[in-house]
Amino acid sequence: MGYKQTRMTEKNTNDSDASFNHGQPAFEYHIPVLFNETIDALQIVPNGIYVDCTFGGGGHSRGILQKLNEAGRLVVFDQDADAAKNLPDDSRVVFVPQNFRYLQRFLRLHKITQVDGVLADLGVSSHQFDEGERGFSIRFDGPLDMRMDQRQQLNAAEIIAGYTELQLHKLFEQYGEVTNAKTLAKHIVQQRKFMPVQTIIQFKSLISPVVKGNPNKYLAQVFQALRIEVNDEMGALKEMLLQLNEIVKPGGRAAIITFHSLEDRLVKNFFKNGDFEEEDDNPFAITQKETQWKPVTKKPVTASEEELKRNTRSRSAKLRTAEKV
Ligand SMILES: C[S@@+](CC[C@H](N)C(=O)[O-])C[C@H]1O[C@@H](n2cnc3c(N)ncnc32)[C@H](O)[C@@H]1O
Repeated sequence: MGYKQTRMTEKNTNDSDASFNHGQPAFEYHIPVLFNETIDALQIVPNGIYVDCTFGGGGHSRGILQKLNEAGRLVVFDQDADAAKNLPDDSRVVFVPQNFRYLQRFLRLHKITQVDGVLADLGVSSHQFDEGERGFSIRFDGPLDMRMDQRQQLNAAEIIAGYTELQLHKLFEQYGEVTNAKTLAKHIVQQRKFMPVQTIIQFKSLISPVVKGNPNKYLAQVFQALRIEVNDEMGALKEMLLQLNEIVKPGGRAAIITFHSLEDRLVKNFFKNGDFEEEDDNPFAITQKETQWKPVTKKPVTASEEELKRNTRSRSAKLRTAEKV
């Protein structure tokens, strides 16, 4: 699987049990961010039922399992089939290889109606970024793919080939905050009929005349926007959050780690107001919104200096935790 050699020797000081995953360190696949902060925030009940919506390399799941006793259970979701290779040999764990937007449906299938806590560590794993053929990274060539779930039809190449100029403009603007989103969309629509756009290199070459500012930063924003659209990340997050109202027991906790402001805003508004709308800044507004959640901290928890030095991916991580009332 072509992991980078340097990753194999990286030391994650949060990892107290490197023998998880049949002797292979999970951080070869992905280093969990805000590990201690997340496990502490969940206030794990030893015989409770927990859900890790984003299993990935299983780093956070390992932390949860260490706090559970023999009666505890952990249901883990991941829509990427690659994550299955990180599953521990542990009878307390149930793996659901599906999108977490179907959380309640699959919990019911496993005869679970309510749980003590839910974790979601959103976005893509380092493994997904590091595999050129998955098409997520600007560092490699490969198919312009970006699907977390390979069973899905829509990929990034199809979006570039088929979306209208307005659709492209809006997605680059909203999901990537690309400064010249309108120009970029117009350029793609004008040029795509002359050039095939099936690979990362072809796509980078197609858009090179309109790249603005620092090329790496610009491309990262464009790629982020495409990735969010391909995987309908905002739609899946909203659907999952709404299901937490029924799934999490009173007194139970939900901990969500986000990596960009759009996601963080959704989580913040959901915990605070019970929906996804911005709070009305009108001081005379008297309507009190109903929420079933009590945020554990006012501000999101971010990475410590030590973690920032050790794991650059933690730079944009924000953890929000709330307790079900
Ligand atoms: C940031 S990684 C999680 C890493 C994990 N916490 C760990 O410690 O290794 C995110 C993972 O969630 C998965 N994922 C993202 N969105 C998902 C969704 N809507 N449904 C299911 N899995 C999803 C990705 O495939 C990826 O493996």
